[in-house]
Amino acid sequence: MMQKPSERGLPVDLTGLRISEGDFSRFSQLIYDVCGIKMPPHKRSMLEARLRKRLRFLGLSSYEAYRDFLFSHDGMVEELINMIDVVTTNKTDFFREPRHFDFMIETVLPVLIPATGAGIDRPLRLWSAGCSTGEEPYTIAMFLEEFRWNNKPLNYKIMGTDISTQVLEKAVQGIYHKDKIEPVPDAFRKKYLLKSRDKQSPQVRIIPEIRAKTRFQRLNFMDEGFNVSEPQDIIFCRNVIIYFDRQTQEKFLARLCRCLLPGGYLFMGHSETLSGMPLPLRQLAPAVYLKN
Ligand SMILES: C[S@@+](CC[C@H](N)C(=O)[O-])C[C@H]1O[C@@H](n2cnc3c(N)ncnc32)[C@H](O)[C@@H]1O
Repeated sequence: MMQKPSERGLPVDLTGLRISEGDFSRFSQLIYDVCGIKMPPHKRSMLEARLRKRLRFLGLSSYEAYRDFLFSHDGMVEELINMIDVVTTNKTDFFREPRHFDFMIETVLPVLIPATGAGIDRPLRLWSAGCSTGEEPYTIAMFLEEFRWNNKPLNYKIMGTDISTQVLEKAVQGIYHKDKIEPVPDAFRKKYLLKSRDKQSPQVRIIPEIRAKTRFQRLNFMDEGFNVSEPQDIIFCRNVIIYFDRQTQEKFLARLCRCLLPGGYLFMGHSETLSGMPLPLRQLAPAVYLKN
C-alpha cells in the first residue's frame, strides 16, 4: 500500500537505504524524459543522496514509498517539480569562465551594435539559458554596465531561464553570501553590490538598477517547441548540455539557434563541443559561435 507523505522534517532513519535496480531505471527514465539529463548506472549513489533530501522532507522511510508517491497522480502534480530541483546540478559562479565576458565587450558589441542598432534603436537582448541562481546573468549585466560607463549609453535587457524553480527564486532575489562574491573584483563590488544595513549580515545584494534589467522565468529545454518571445542577440548557454546525451544536445541546440537572430552570438561552456553538429553556426573563439 502506498505510504502517504507525512509532515515535513519528520525524523526517519535513512542510513543504508538503496534504490533497487528496477526503481533506478524508472527514476532515471523519468529524469531523462522530463529534463533530458542522463543518469547512467554509475550515478546511482548520487541519485540516492539527492533523493534522500526529498524522503527526509516528506517523512518517507524508503525509496519504494517515494517511487509510489512520485509516480502517482498527486506526485506528478506536487512532487515532480521538487524532484527536478534536487536532481539538477546548479553549480555556478560569478565571473565563471571570465574571458567570455571580455570577448563580449571588446569583440562582440563593437560589431553587433553598429550592424544591428541593438542597444541604441532597441534594447540589446541577452539570454542566460540555464541561469541557475543568477550569477551568470548578473555578471553579464555588470560587464554591460562597465561598457556603458566607458562608452555610449546602451539599452539592454537580460532574460535568465532555468528548469528549477528553486534556483530561480534565488536568482530573482539577487541576494548572495559574501563567500559567493569572492571572484567579483573590488571595483565591481563597489558599483554593483549592496551591503546589508545590518553590519553583521554576511549577505550582499545586486543593485536595483541591474535587477530591473534582468528578468527570470522557468523554461524547460525539453518542451517541444519551446520558444522565447523575441529572438535574441546574444545567448549564453554554458555548462548545461554536458548533462545531455548527443542526440538530445543536437535537438536542443537546433531549437536554441532558432531563438538567436542571424548575426547573433552563442556562448557555450568551455568543455562543451558543437563540432560535427549540423547547426547554422561558425566558431569565432573557444566556445563562442556566430549565427550565419
Ligand atoms: C551547471 S548549471 C550552469 C549555470 C550557468 N550557466 C553557468 O555556467 O554557471 C546548469 C543549469 O541548467 C539547468 N538545466 C538542466 N536541465 C535543464 C532543462 N532541461 N531545461 C532548462 N534548464 C535546465 C539546471 O537546472 C542548472 O541550473
